[in-house]
Formats: sequence, C-alpha cells, structure tokens
Amino acid sequence: MKGIVFTEFLELVEDKFGLEMVDTIIEQSNLESNGAYTSVGTYQFSEMLQLLQNLSDNTAISADDLLLVYGEHFFSVIEKSYPSLLATYQDPIEMLASIENHIHVEVRKIYPDAELPTFKTLEKTENSLVMIYQSSRAMHHFGLGLMNKTFDHFNAKASIVLEKIKADGTEVKFLINRIDESKSN
Ligand code: HEM
Repeated sequence: MKGIVFTEFLELVEDKFGLEMVDTIIEQSNLESNGAYTSVGTYQFSEMLQLLQNLSDNTAISADDLLLVYGEHFFSVIEKSYPSLLATYQDPIEMLASIENHIHVEVRKIYPDAELPTFKTLEKTENSLVMIYQSSRAMHHFGLGLMNKTFDHFNAKASIVLEKIKADGTEVKFLINRIDESKSN
C-alpha cells in the first residue's frame, strides 16, 4: 500500500483525535516500518489493518465507519494531487464507471506497485450504475467515501447502497442512483 495512504490517514487521526492517539495506535501495532511513513514509500497493507483496528478499538467506532470518513477525506487529497485526472470528467456516474479502465490505469502508471481493487460495471444508465467491487483488502467503505465525495464534487446527489456478496467484504455490489433534485418537492 502506498505511503500517501498512511501519511494522510495518520494526519486525519491527528486532526480528529489528537497526536496522542497517533502515538497510541502506532505503539499498539506491530509495524515493520515502526510507524515512520513517507508519502512516496510502499508499506504492507497489514500495517494499515492494525492501525485501523487499534483506532477502532480505542474510539469504539467501527473500522467501516472509520474507512468511510477516511475515503471522504482522501477525495480532497485526490483533488489536490490529481486535478487534471478529475478534470477529464463532467459527470459523477461517468467518472465512477471509469475507475477500472481509466482512473486506476493512470494511477498504476504513476505507482506501478499500487494495490488497487477491481470495479466491474454490471449496469449503467445516465442516472444509475451497478458495480461489483473486488479486493482482498475489503476497503469497500473507503470506496463508498470516495463515491460520496465524487457526487459532491459535481454538485450532485445520489443514493448509494452497498450489498455484500461475500461476508468478508472482499466482493461487494454498489447500487448507485442519482437523485434528481429538480424533481423533489
Ligand atoms: C482521480 C481519482 C483517483 C485516484 C488518483 C486514485 C488513486 C488511488 C490510490 C493511490 C490508491 C492506493 C493504492 C495503494 O495504496 O497501493 C487507491 C486505492 C483505492 N481506490 Fe482509487 N483513486 C481514484 C479514484 C477512486 C474512486 C472514485 C474510487 C471509488 C470507489 C476509488 C476506489 C479505491 C479503493 C476502494 C481503493 C482501496 C484499495 C482496495 O480496495 O483494494 N478510487 N486509489
């Protein structure tokens, strides 16, 4: 997993829970890196899992809820770091349907060792999208956070429902429907 995912995570933990919490979760984890991350490094995903689990234990917030908030935060990192990639898109559904065949393809050119999920599109219309997320890392709630902020980015709204296909979260269906605000009363 890329260093930027760790450095941004620990910054968010410091922001929300304080530096002491950062020290605590690093101490409670068994980290090959000793918790010293650089944004350009690459580290084991198991380190992220431990940090996340310890944060969850110390805050009594579920790991999925923490990942959701982290995904929402990570979108702002993407906006800052890859503005030209985002500028390719005018519509949130077009953008989400292009993760697999464009966005993450570009990410892999920048980071050849990136550990990325796969997103398969099952159905797509102008206002809806059904996708299957697959990843051994089961970071579907990180994806949900990114999807929420994708709609915000385009000043759009959506209902996003997540259905686990595999109980361990390594395969998940996302049902995304744009909410047309002009039709609400
Ligand atoms: C310009 C837009 C995007 C960029 C630059 C980007 C970049 C990245 C990077 C750098 C990682 C970490 C890879 C690693 O640690 O090895 C990642 C992971 C991930 N990305 Fe993207 N991403 C983008 C858009 C999205 C969107 C819109 C989604 C929406 C679902 C998404 C879903 C994910 C997920 C779920 C992961 C976690 C890894 C996993 O589940 O296996 N990405 N992405």
